Amino acid sequence: MSNYHIKHLEEYYQVYRKSVRNPEAFWEEIAEEHFVWRKRWDNVLSWDFKKPEIKWFEGAKLNITENCLDRHLPTRGDKTAIIFEPNDPKEEALHITYRELHERVCRMANVLLGHGVKKGDRVCIYLPMIPELSVALLACARIGAIHSVVFAGFSSHALATRINDSDCKIVITSDGSFRGSKSIDLKGIVDKALEGCPGVANVLVAKRTNAKIDMLKGRDKWLQPLLDEAYADCVAEIMDAEDPLFILYTSGSTGTPKGMVHTTAGYMVYSAYTFKNVFQYTENDVYWCTADIGWITGHSYIVYGPLANGATTLMFEGVPSYPDYGRFWDVVEKHKVNQFYTAPTAIRALAKENLDYVEKHDLSSLKVLGSVGEPINEEAWHWYNNNVGKKNSPIVDTWWQTETGGIMITPIPYVTPTTPTYATLPFIGIQPALMDENGQEIKGNQVDGRLCIKFPWPSISRTIWGNHDRYRDTYFSAYENMYFTGDGALRDAVGYYRITGRVDDVIIVSGHNLGTAPIEDSINEHPAVAESAIVGFPHDVKGNALYGYVILKETGESRDRENLRKEINQQITEHVGPIAKLDKIQFVSGLPKTRSGKIMRRILRKIASNDTSNLGDTSTLLNPEVVQEIMDNAL
Ligand code: WT7
Repeated sequence: MSNYHIKHLEEYYQVYRKSVRNPEAFWEEIAEEHFVWRKRWDNVLSWDFKKPEIKWFEGAKLNITENCLDRHLPTRGDKTAIIFEPNDPKEEALHITYRELHERVCRMANVLLGHGVKKGDRVCIYLPMIPELSVALLACARIGAIHSVVFAGFSSHALATRINDSDCKIVITSDGSFRGSKSIDLKGIVDKALEGCPGVANVLVAKRTNAKIDMLKGRDKWLQPLLDEAYADCVAEIMDAEDPLFILYTSGSTGTPKGMVHTTAGYMVYSAYTFKNVFQYTENDVYWCTADIGWITGHSYIVYGPLANGATTLMFEGVPSYPDYGRFWDVVEKHKVNQFYTAPTAIRALAKENLDYVEKHDLSSLKVLGSVGEPINEEAWHWYNNNVGKKNSPIVDTWWQTETGGIMITPIPYVTPTTPTYATLPFIGIQPALMDENGQEIKGNQVDGRLCIKFPWPSISRTIWGNHDRYRDTYFSAYENMYFTGDGALRDAVGYYRITGRVDDVIIVSGHNLGTAPIEDSINEHPAVAESAIVGFPHDVKGNALYGYVILKETGESRDRENLRKEINQQITEHVGPIAKLDKIQFVSGLPKTRSGKIMRRILRKIASNDTSNLGDTSTLLNPEVVQEIMDNAL
């Protein structure tokens, strides 16, 4: 029996027990048999959730790109590593072999070295879903630089905040990006961001849209001529197991985005092992994850996990609605996709359209369907199962987070019987716990509580860049000796988990994790606005949409409300990005606050959700009268 590839339910339970009884021995075996190391570890695991400090495979030396590229060259050199499917279906798809990818990565690595990027330096990557994006990640990893990918839908302000937080010295971007029938001026966004980023010495610009852009002399350089000139081989930097591999920002319930730090060896082992099992990938399969590499899903399950397994991974530049709502299914048919991994919001959007868009395509290649990013509702689950999978492809509802680095609770397809809306069982090595409000673990089945994890797994993030105290406070202080996820969950009679949603002020809109604070900050910067609060409310496609309550300054009172709404959303677009725009904006005279001055979001959430029959205890409010006013004028 190979513990690396689980094929039966009894095997799952057996391997799971092994992974929990003796995690060190278990992970040591996986690491030893399925990866290449320059030097073996001295110690498999040391951990302390109080400090917190977690180290996996300490003392080992490796380079993740040797695991994702070099080691495949003798056996898979001519195998397609990346299929690039462009935004416009009339443009030809690209098939990049492992040999070609290796060469591209080496060239890009040499370009970075030539610009003074050294081991440990931070590189900001702000690119659309084009091959250069995957190449840039791997090129950083090749030379030991830490990549910080910023999703290319974020605004210049959001980009600048992230560049400065981790002190990036170089930015890799493109002239523009294609999104359906639109093109976006990415370089213009970078230029604006860099007005506030004195630490950035160079910008390397990939050509994609051929838009006319400004190039700042000395700072900005076209990437392609540099790549053409660069040497096609590059010796891999030998990294320590615990050297940072990347930083990826995620929203918190308060304050600025958190730069989650992932390190090399543990992340590699866990992303690869989960990929193999959760998608049951076998050698000649074509695997497609529709996420953007700007999110953790893309890092772990478009780039590192698949490539570490020598898989063929598809990168899609476009959107599900262009040129029509059949695009996903067109791509599945065209490339004979075997595993398809997407988000519930995309499924809900497509389920609204005519079934012909699905039915006219041959989807018989599909073997596994995946879902990630937010709870998948029953209706969407059945639509996906019936119409895309034809009841023949198991759905893996995968729960995890930017912080966890890899999938944590999930069915294993063809192994774990699935139940709609349930993420089902913990993955190998994962020890979940449900906690009550008094900090006690809730044992047994048919219970619900706050979801924690009791024991470290290899790809847990190690810190928040530049703010270890915040890392401890956010994840390790709510419950003693536990990692707290921020989610609520229930465990049913057979021990299956169902994620019920965030228990903090993070709101998940269309699968994007949004913190309230940066959005409120940007609203408050509008000259007519005195104060604001935003909450989520249920939305049939986005899962949640944003509802803003805004108090105007006296000087703003005379302004036209519709214009103000537009300006506020414009302001949010510029400060955070279009994904954070509000669906509803209600102008109010006050916000319900506790005596300590805290906004009572619970009440605002209920009003926004049109669920005001029981507002709960309002006796601690400083200004209870404002609640009636807000209810009377709710949108
Ligand atoms: C939050 C993490 C890592 C995947 C992309 C999102 C929610 C994620 C599920 C799921 C219910 C889910 C949780 C989690 N979430 N997957 N299958 N079922 N909820 O990563 O941006 O870090 O967001 O997404 O609330 O805490 P992220």
